[in-house]
Parts: sequence; C-alpha cells; structure tokens
Amino acid sequence: MKLETKKLILKEPDLDDVSNIIENLNNYDVSKYLPAIKYPYTMGDGLSWIKFCRKIKHEQPRTRYEFSIQLKFDKRVVGGISLKNINKESAEVGWWLGERYWKKDIMTEALKKIIEFGFNNLELKIINVSFNKENVASYHLSQKFKFQKSNWKETDEETYSLLKGDWERNEGDYVEIKKVK
Ligand SMILES: CC(C)(COP(=O)(O)OP(=O)(O)OC[C@H]1O[C@@H](n2cnc3c(N)ncnc32)[C@H](O)[C@@H]1OP(=O)(O)O)[C@@H](O)C(=O)NCCC(=O)NCCS
Repeated sequence: MKLETKKLILKEPDLDDVSNIIENLNNYDVSKYLPAIKYPYTMGDGLSWIKFCRKIKHEQPRTRYEFSIQLKFDKRVVGGISLKNINKESAEVGWWLGERYWKKDIMTEALKKIIEFGFNNLELKIINVSFNKENVASYHLSQKFKFQKSNWKETDEETYSLLKGDWERNEGDYVEIKKVK
C-alpha cells in the first residue's frame, strides 16, 4: 500500500527506512509525546518495528495501517503516520516527524491524504486523535482540519474527532487557523 501527495510518499515501513527512523525518533523532544516510543530509541527498536509492520500487512481485514513519510525529492524518511483500531466506523490517527522537519507543512500534507484514505477508501465515519494537553503542535494541526473535542475526561490526554460529514462540508480540505477564529 502506497499513497502519494505532491511532495510525499506514504509507504508501509520496510528495512530501508530503519536508519532514517532511528535518526529522527531517537530524540527526546519527538518521543516524549509518543507513549509507545522509549528514549533512547535503538537499532533493535527500529528492527522490531519493521517486523511488526510486516506482520500487520497480512491482517485480513486490516485493523491498522502504518506509513513511513518519505520526501519525494531526496527519498529520506522523515516521520510516520498511522491509522489504528480500525473498525467499520472509526479509526485513530497518530503522527510524528523528525524535529528538523517540523513547521514545514509536511504533516498537514500527510494528514490530508490519510483522512482522504480513511473516509474514501476505508469508508470510515469518524477519525479520532488523542494527544497530551501540552502538545501544542498536535492541537494546532488538529484544528486546521477542524477536529472537535470529544473526550472531556480529566486526563493528560485529550481526544478530538473528525466526522466524515464535517470533513465533506469543508470540501475535504484544511483551513488556515487565523481565518477560523
Ligand atoms: C505534531 C507534529 C507532527 C507537527 O508537525 P509539523 O511539522 O509542525 O506540522 P505542520 O508543519 O504541518 O504544521 C501544522 C500546524 O501546526 C503548527 N505548529 C507546529 N508546531 C507548533 C507549535 N510548537 N506551536 C504552535 N503551532 C505549531 C504549524 O505552524 C501549522 O500551522 P499553520 O499552518 O497555521 O502555521 C510534530 O510537532 C511532531 O512530530 N511532534 C512530536 C511527536 C508528536 O507529538 N506526535 C503526536 C503524538 S499524538
């Protein structure tokens, strides 16, 4: 499974990605908001990750897709994006990028494609995302796509949800936050 945008290829992770994944994930400022990633992130962790990603490819039906985010221009893998806990109605999206690639609109471009894939190909009705309350970057990104707060429990994590109907009303695109407010 491979998805393509103007600047990116979203591909299921393979061994060629390991060195770039370690380069980018072995950074506390990236992994501190990723509960499944421990710091330091080692070669062993990277190899186990690829083994896991190979295994989930054979699931029928798929309950999870993991994608490496690869830049078209130099083929570097700069981050990851996933859809997990997929069922008939819903799935949970997750994302991360190497620090040197932050604030370059890369995740906006990747997320737009993953939302399209979820709603159009997997026929989901709702996509959820959970992140730590202090994760300003993830909050900002979710608001560009008009995810609405859907979990009001007092925990460190908050959940936001995007309904297919709302996404369609927004013409399948994101908005500039400044114009929303
Ligand atoms: C969350 C993350 C992927 C965002 O990546 P990014 O490269 O900033 O994404 P984009 O460039 O597409 O930016 C999305 C929006 O968020 C904004 N943003 C990014 N970092 C921000 C920050 N620290 N504070 C405020 N806004 C921020 C961007 O400016 C952009 O908004 P704009 O278009 O209105 O300017 C990245 O910060 C990251 O990998 N963080 C560590 C891992 C993580 O937290 N993952 C989520 C765990 S659930």
